[in-house]
Amino acid sequence: MESTPTPHDDLACLAWQIELGATEAILDAPVNRYDLPDKTVQPTLRAAPVRPAAETATPTDPVSAAGTAAAGATTLKALQAALAAYPHCDLRLGARNLVFSDGNPAARIMVIGEAPGRDEDLQGKPFVGRAGQLLDRMFAAIGLSRHAARPEDALYIGNIMPWRPPQNRDPSPEEIAMMRPFMARHVALANPDLLVLMGNISCEAGLGKRGITRLRGTWSEAWGKPALPMFYPAYLLRTPAAKREAWADLLALKARLRSLT
Ligand code: URA
Repeated sequence: MESTPTPHDDLACLAWQIELGATEAILDAPVNRYDLPDKTVQPTLRAAPVRPAAETATPTDPVSAAGTAAAGATTLKALQAALAAYPHCDLRLGARNLVFSDGNPAARIMVIGEAPGRDEDLQGKPFVGRAGQLLDRMFAAIGLSRHAARPEDALYIGNIMPWRPPQNRDPSPEEIAMMRPFMARHVALANPDLLVLMGNISCEAGLGKRGITRLRGTWSEAWGKPALPMFYPAYLLRTPAAKREAWADLLALKARLRSLT
């Protein structure tokens, strides 16, 4: 016997579709709403349509809107609030949480990842899934931890993209461009001595180029700070042989940190 779906079933179905990556509610076929009979207003009485201001104004450039929003933030908390209020990136619609940062903002090293995955989206914190556990072990091997209180032992962790992309796809160049001004401000406010750029998306945002296999291990500069590109921990989980290079990069990072003290 067929049972009538309850609101609980509908909600579960919706959550399932969001999990699959749906970001919009649409029908199977497009509906031209201009062709639908207007049930509420008689044609002879219909007033001239008044366009809302937003429709008549020149379209906003999402990148300059991001620049203005980010520049207005004078604390990390205000920057997080500015990101939460930023309306131009559709990834926010499919995400459960904004993933801003974790760790100690006074840390001398800031790690910049790509984008949240499922676990990060659920918890609202960067690098908390399997790749995050590996990241914690890697940095613990050179005496650094996101939980440490002393800036010289601590890590601060952020992501280029604060919202999880559907099905963990790569963020598009437009999405990265929108988030660049926010990361520039994030780095300026946290003011670490050194940056670690984890993976290709972080290198594209910070250095304007991809190719992590070639870039890793070579110091560069991003957002006015010395920056070391490194393999992304999820890649190291899939390719354990690359851990050797990652270890060399961690030692280089530790040596650079020591040279600054
Ligand atoms: N990978 C990232 O780049 N960021 C996270 O938060 C998790 C995995």
